[in-house]
Amino acid sequence: AADGKSMLFEKFIIKGGTPLRGEVRISGAKNAAVAIIPAAILAEDKCILENVPSISDVDVALEILSSMGAQIRRLSKSKIEVDTSRIKDGTVPYELARSTRGSSYFLGALLGRFKKASVPLPGGCDLGSRPIDQHIKCFEALGAKADIKHGIVDLSADRLIGTQIYFDKVTVGGTINALLACAKAEGLTIIENAAKEPHIVDLANFLNSMGADIMGAGTDVIKVKGVSQLHGTEYSVIPDQIEAGTFMVAAAATCGDITLKNVIPKHLEPITAKLRKIGVYVEIEDDTDNVRVVGRPHYEGTDIKTSPHPGFPTDMQPQMTTLLAMSNGTSMVTESIFDTRFKYVDELRRMGADITVDSRVAVVRGVDHLTGAPVKASDLRAGAALIIAGLAAQGTTEIEDIHHIERGYENMEIKLRALGADIVKRYYPWICSMEKAAFRIHDDVNQKYDHVLPYGFHLKMTVSYVSRYGYLVAE
Ligand code: EPU
Repeated sequence: AADGKSMLFEKFIIKGGTPLRGEVRISGAKNAAVAIIPAAILAEDKCILENVPSISDVDVALEILSSMGAQIRRLSKSKIEVDTSRIKDGTVPYELARSTRGSSYFLGALLGRFKKASVPLPGGCDLGSRPIDQHIKCFEALGAKADIKHGIVDLSADRLIGTQIYFDKVTVGGTINALLACAKAEGLTIIENAAKEPHIVDLANFLNSMGADIMGAGTDVIKVKGVSQLHGTEYSVIPDQIEAGTFMVAAAATCGDITLKNVIPKHLEPITAKLRKIGVYVEIEDDTDNVRVVGRPHYEGTDIKTSPHPGFPTDMQPQMTTLLAMSNGTSMVTESIFDTRFKYVDELRRMGADITVDSRVAVVRGVDHLTGAPVKASDLRAGAALIIAGLAAQGTTEIEDIHHIERGYENMEIKLRALGADIVKRYYPWICSMEKAAFRIHDDVNQKYDHVLPYGFHLKMTVSYVSRYGYLVAE
């Protein structure tokens, strides 16, 4: 089914200039969900997960689990039952591992349960070199033998024994894998220089709700007392702070007025602080914790440097740079997490942005407005930035390669349309055989689709079949 997606060529077509107005409900956090799903392996039991976002990275994580023999039942759009009691061994298929970064979490989870794991090196957004040496170092510290051959990481251990793990650099993925591998190790593990992102805390809370004994998540020292057994649980994933931040910037860029529901304002603080600094009005409603964002016609540029939580998140850098490209004065944006996270800048330049990049620093000279153009999304957050640019620009923007966006944003265009944006998704199905076109949509069997395509073509179809993992096959 994952292959089926690429058989359909999809684009977002955005007519810019409409201020976003209204309410938007933020979905569950991608980066928490893709850690919690493999963590369920450690339960050897049924877990019910709520507030799970409907995005393709989550589908891939569920497909990997299912390929190992887990039973997965979708109880509603965002509620899933995962039964990992019958998983026999730990081998992750290559095609699935290659498509996401989160596949690396199967290493920690499988090692924790079976004392062995075989997982192809992970894929995910192309943001430059993304090694997993710190993950491996932590597995070895716990007593595992690691062997990387033909692109596959093989781990095996007789016993996993609690120890002290010091990360040479702050790593979200490394910290997650450490928690997964040591929750059931013998004795105490102390993880130092741990990442502090909200999704690290969420994973620790999930593991604790299964009976783990983890203290200090959210600080840079996490202590884990290994337990011999974990059990099933019912757990609700935290809201996605990056999705929330993306909508906040989109509202600011279009001079809109929107209210975000289902958010944790504390998680948004690094984003809120920068938005307020440039002149965006952000209000946290006391009784509801809803966040209201009101845009202005002009903002003052500012400097930004990405850093691990609670610093400004790298996953918001492209969106924020886009807003700075339309703000007064010159702003400097420094990317300190990834080597190549400025690929979208070339696309923004097509839309009239004045940005120069030298290695990890972008100098952004604000322009009065952007103009619509055909552009390509090179990765997930680059795609989000181009949507924001398109919403704010004069004229029409066509964004290609939107499968990157759908890895991490649930129903982006539907949510934006509900806020008044003029955005549609167009399908270009003639490049594939219609009978076999399988793609990911969230509605039911018998749903009728009626899409106007370019050059006067019309796509009319009825959804006929729902496969096990939420894919629908249209004929
Ligand atoms: N690093 C190493 N060695 C390692 C691990 C990381 O050198 O063993 C380096 C990386 O190359 C990078 C830095 O350490 O320079 C930080 O990487 P980290 O491990 O924190 O990132 P990640 O786990 O690969 C996760 C998110 C990313 C997000 C980063 C930073 C998931 C699945 N991915 O990646 O999310 O940008 O943390 O917050 O959780 C996204 O959602 O768009 C996305 C890319």
